[in-house]
Amino acid sequence: MTKLRALSGIKPTGSPHWGNYFGMIQPAVALSKSYESFYFIADFHALTTVRDAEALRADSYQVAATLIAAGLDPESCVLWRQSDVPEVCELAWLLGCVTGYGLVERAHAFKDARANEREVNFGVVSYPVLMAADILLYDADAVPVGKDQVQHLEMTRDMVGYFNQQFLGSIGYDDDDRWDGKGLKRPEPIVAERAAVVPGLDGRKMSKSYDNYVPVFASPKQMKKRIMQIVTDSTPLEEPKDPTTCNVFAMYRLLATEAEVEALAAKYRGGNFGYGHAKLELLAVAERTFGPMRERYEALLADRDGLEAILQRGALQARAVAEPVLERVRAAVGLPLRPVR
Ligand code: ADP
Ligand code: TRP
Repeated sequence: MTKLRALSGIKPTGSPHWGNYFGMIQPAVALSKSYESFYFIADFHALTTVRDAEALRADSYQVAATLIAAGLDPESCVLWRQSDVPEVCELAWLLGCVTGYGLVERAHAFKDARANEREVNFGVVSYPVLMAADILLYDADAVPVGKDQVQHLEMTRDMVGYFNQQFLGSIGYDDDDRWDGKGLKRPEPIVAERAAVVPGLDGRKMSKSYDNYVPVFASPKQMKKRIMQIVTDSTPLEEPKDPTTCNVFAMYRLLATEAEVEALAAKYRGGNFGYGHAKLELLAVAERTFGPMRERYEALLADRDGLEAILQRGALQARAVAEPVLERVRAAVGLPLRPVR
C-alpha cells in the first residue's frame, strides 16, 4: 500500500520555541515514522514581516537544524526551503483566482493586523492562499499543525472545492469521500490534542509575537531565567495548590512521564510545596529532553554547508513531486503544458 503523505511548514522568524516544538515539530517527527514526509521552511511566508536578509538566511538554517535535531531524518524525509521551489507562487496565483476576498478577510492574522492597526501588506492578505498552495502543490494528505493554523487548513479545503468545481465541474470527491485524482486533493489537519495550544510564560498562547516563550535551544542558564518568569498565583507556600490551573504544571505535563506528572500533582495538593520548587522540577525535565537535542543542534548549525546540501537535495525531491501536480493544474485551467523554465 502506498503511504499517505504528511506535509507542514514553519516560518524562519527567530528561534523555535516550546509551542512550536510540542504543537508542530514533535507531532511532525512522530508522523514521519509512518507517513511519507514533506517539511519545509516557510521563508516566503516569513517575508510578510521580516526585513533583515541576514536574519532570514540564518533563521532558515536554525529551523532546518531544529527539525533534524528533534529527530527528523533527512535521509527518509524531504526537507526543503519553500523559496527553492518557486512554482508554489504559480499555484498560489491560480488559487487566488478562485478565492473570494471575503474568505481571506476572515483569516485571524488579517483581522488581528487590521484591528491593531498594523500594516496589512498584500502578503498578509494572500498568506492563506500561499499556504494552501504549499499544501496542494504536493497532494498532501495530512498536515500536522498547532490549533491556530486550523483555520488556514479549512480555507485550503474550501479552495480545493472552488478550484475543482469551477475548472472541472465537480468537487472531485464521490459520496464515500474518494478523490477522483483529477483536480486538487483535500488535506486533513492533524492537531496534537495535548499540545493544541501550549501556554506561554504569562498564560497566553506561547508565541514569538508576545515574547512569552522559552526557546527550544536556550542554554540551561537562559532556560532557568525564562522558567523562573512563569506567572503563578499568590497561594502561600504551605497551602495546597491546584495543579490544573497552573502554567508551570501545564508545561511540565508536556515533558514528564505519567508517573512524574502524578507525583508532581500530589506535591501540589499536599501543601508545603511552592511554585519555585515546581519550576525547578520543570527545569530538570526540560533539560533532560532538550539537552541532548541541543548538542545535536549545535553540531548541525556549525556545518552550514552540510545543511545547505540537505536543503538543496530536498528541493530537488520536492520539485519532482510538484511538477506533475502543476502540470495537472495547468491542464485543468487551460494553460499550456511544460512551459520553458
Ligand atoms: P509563532 O506563533 O510563535 O509565530 P509559528 O507561527 O511560526 O509560531 O508556528 C509554527 C507552528 O507551531 C505552527 O504549526 C503553529 O500552529 C505551532 N505553534 C506555534 N505556537 C504554538 C503554541 N503556543 N501551541 C501549539 N502550537 C503552536
Ligand atoms: N502558516 C504556518 C505558521 O504560521 C506556516 C506554514 C506555511 C504552513 N505554509 C504551511 C504550515 C503549510 C502547514 C502547511 O505556522
